[in-house]
Amino acid sequence: MKTTSMTRRDFVRLGVGAAVTSTLVKSPLLAEAASDGHKVRFAVVGTGIRGCDLLRSARKVSTGVCVGAADLYVTRYQAAKEAYGSDFPTTGDYRVLLDREDVDAVFIATSDHHHRRVTLDAIAAGKDVYCEKPMSHTVADGFQMVEAVAESKRIFQAGSQRVSSILYARAREIYASGRLGEVHEIDAQWNRNSPGGAWLYPIPPDASPETVDWKAFLLDAEDRPFDPVRFFRWRWFKDYGSGLGGDLFVHLLSGIKAITGLSAPPSRAYSMGGIYHYKDAREFPDLLETLYEFPSENGGVQVHLHCNQANNDGNEGIKFYGSTGTMVLTGTTVTFTPQDVRPKFEPYGWGGMTAAQRDTGMNEWKAAHPEKLPEPGDAETFTLPKGYDDTADHIANFFNAVVTRKHVLEDEVFGNNAAIGCHLANYSYFHRSAAIWDETTKTIKG
Ligand SMILES: NC(=O)c1ccc[n+]([C@@H]2O[C@H](COP(=O)([O-])OP(=O)(O)OC[C@H]3O[C@@H](n4cnc5c(N)ncnc54)[C@H](O)[C@@H]3O)[C@@H](O)[C@H]2O)c1
Repeated sequence: MKTTSMTRRDFVRLGVGAAVTSTLVKSPLLAEAASDGHKVRFAVVGTGIRGCDLLRSARKVSTGVCVGAADLYVTRYQAAKEAYGSDFPTTGDYRVLLDREDVDAVFIATSDHHHRRVTLDAIAAGKDVYCEKPMSHTVADGFQMVEAVAESKRIFQAGSQRVSSILYARAREIYASGRLGEVHEIDAQWNRNSPGGAWLYPIPPDASPETVDWKAFLLDAEDRPFDPVRFFRWRWFKDYGSGLGGDLFVHLLSGIKAITGLSAPPSRAYSMGGIYHYKDAREFPDLLETLYEFPSENGGVQVHLHCNQANNDGNEGIKFYGSTGTMVLTGTTVTFTPQDVRPKFEPYGWGGMTAAQRDTGMNEWKAAHPEKLPEPGDAETFTLPKGYDDTADHIANFFNAVVTRKHVLEDEVFGNNAAIGCHLANYSYFHRSAAIWDETTKTIKG
């Protein structure tokens, strides 16, 4: 097997073996010079786990500067400043940030049920938006967001950062080269086996109605008394989160879309799953499998996704089964393995015939295939450099788009269609039926 390690200094020349044409994969962070020197002034709405991660990654991206943050839990004002390593104004009301003229763009890292509201408000205030995945909490939310972005001509990027990863760029090149042949089957999983992986996040001792704006958190959801489990472990609940579909399927679907160019939502989905391992208040399954059908130019692609929160075998991975090769992505590698599809005499089919018939058949076959074809070649693996940060590259792509006003790959339509995949999976699970995407009415039918 041949292996290549990607470095992120300079433009990276990738591709080994005679069959790979010379290719260049460029880290978006290294393209920063494309901007005109203006730093994008951004504010973060929601500075919990992901908001702080975004701030840590944004430190590496010199084309932007954080100028403010909002959160509904006051202790997170300080967490945000620590994550970014500098001071900036903080507030409990994100609209204060939207009123500021010195804010160009907003990062939205709230629970899923706030994505639509904050996006619409930000766009109405003339801000560009980086909104965490899943872009929408419902199908209708997503289309409202798409419409608002289109009308306003704002830049919008959804937050599945693998779309900007140099590993996925390499996989996209392999896919586009045609070396996989026809791909009609893709298999992906994201498995975990720890309390944190199952969203049993810590509840801080200072959490109370005094430190958390509970009413603002509920938004349009059912009114109920302050409940720190719902606030800090919102992923368990349908009112605020989207389960494994919104948490992990969306990453896998976005990666698959970025590599293959499959742009439409899946045409149908079937899910099986259950709450098997975690006997707590969660409403979403801890094991979910979904089989999707995607319409495509080459006749269709079946995508099988699977997330298990009680066994982490394989962790994160995507496998593309092509007629002339197989491509496997892990969190840090992409491997292409050619299939040996050279024509050969296949004795099995002659097993029910006489020796004379078989000999004749073999001789005729040999006469028809006089040439010795070359070996298919070794498997090739590309490995990410240690410490590579795809979120920093995703942020760099966003800042670049804010300056150039050019659409990013993971724009509002991409993000919406990926989120529809999550909604189809959940619909099928909860209705115990197929979920069919109706493109005419833009709704899910059972
Ligand atoms: N791209 C990724 O890899 C990735 C990873 C984790 C989470 N996420 C996404 O990021 C989002 C946040 O997840 P998290 O794990 O950080 O959750 P979290 O609960 O840790 O943080 C969410 C924060 O948003 C705040 N918030 C909610 N509504 C708000 C509002 N209207 N104004 C201001 N603050 C508000 C809450 O107070 C909370 O502190 C989710 O959509 C999640 O799916 C993405």
